[in-house]
Amino acid sequence: MSERLEDIAAAMVANGKGLLAADESSGTIKKRFDVIGVESTPDSRRDYREMMFRASDAMTKYISGVILYDETIHQKAADGTPLVDIIKASGALPGIKVDAGAKPLAGFPGDTITEGLDGLRERLADYYKLGARFAKWRAVIDIDVAKGVPSATSIGSNAHALARYAALCQEAGIVPIVEPEVLMDGAHDIDTCYEISKATLTKLYTELYAARVVLEGTILKPNMVLSGKKSGKVSSPDEVAEKTIKLFRETVPAAIGGIAFLSGGQTDEQATANLNAINAIGPHPWKLTFSYGRALQAAPQKAWSGKPANVAAAQAAFAHRAHMNHLAALGQWQPTLEQAA
Ligand code: 13P
Repeated sequence: MSERLEDIAAAMVANGKGLLAADESSGTIKKRFDVIGVESTPDSRRDYREMMFRASDAMTKYISGVILYDETIHQKAADGTPLVDIIKASGALPGIKVDAGAKPLAGFPGDTITEGLDGLRERLADYYKLGARFAKWRAVIDIDVAKGVPSATSIGSNAHALARYAALCQEAGIVPIVEPEVLMDGAHDIDTCYEISKATLTKLYTELYAARVVLEGTILKPNMVLSGKKSGKVSSPDEVAEKTIKLFRETVPAAIGGIAFLSGGQTDEQATANLNAINAIGPHPWKLTFSYGRALQAAPQKAWSGKPANVAAAQAAFAHRAHMNHLAALGQWQPTLEQAA
């Protein structure tokens, strides 16, 4: 495999393959495990993630890379094999979440700023030695129009941090996934999501240029353009696709390595149907695929429920979602394929 940044980025979005976001912090994975009644310990987290990384059907055919959390990139499987080696043996690339999370932005109630730049150069060098060839940094932009959220300061500060992170990644030979997530949690309509996402992406690419980031060696991990969850509306895949592509044509350079969406709280099937609709109205200047956390893992998590006897069923559930999203990345998914499972 080439070590050139643009080749790594291209491989991450090639052939309808996408990314498995398995980089939940220990706090977040505990919340997921609480739902299935599993105690969150280093071993249970390892067993759960090992189950997915050893799902060879899903991993070899549909997954180009896995985003890991710091604990996981250091962990060994039950038989002593480093988890990173299991991922590599499937042909997928190991990646690493390097941000330290979104913290309240001082002076701007309701806004957050993602932290983690201090010491990042040294951490990236360590992660490279451990096998990471791409990284992820997530900025979080909430929408609450009545409260003036997000502020221009929040959008600007987060875009600037993303650009500093991206430049450091490229210096280390690591492809940065730049993730400016406009949350779907609010009560806003789809056009508000469009406007805020447009302001966010415009600022992001201004900052990436200013930081001399090589766009070909980056992957964008965006939200889709959606109605807020609390609006009570669910936009059709056709409307989501049309508005999401209009947004990207206006703001995202054709030069970037590719686009890999977050799922952001959509149901499993919505995340697949929307990705499919987006690709079905192509051709587009970029490859558009998935980098899903919840929309790939909800089904296998439930099937697994912490029991070794359920590993095969959980791997089958993971393979099914990965297959459906693979087809969606090619614009070849059909709702009837869900029932066939
Ligand atoms: P979701 O797909 O669950 O939104 O997670 C993707 C991710 O990595 C968010 O940073």
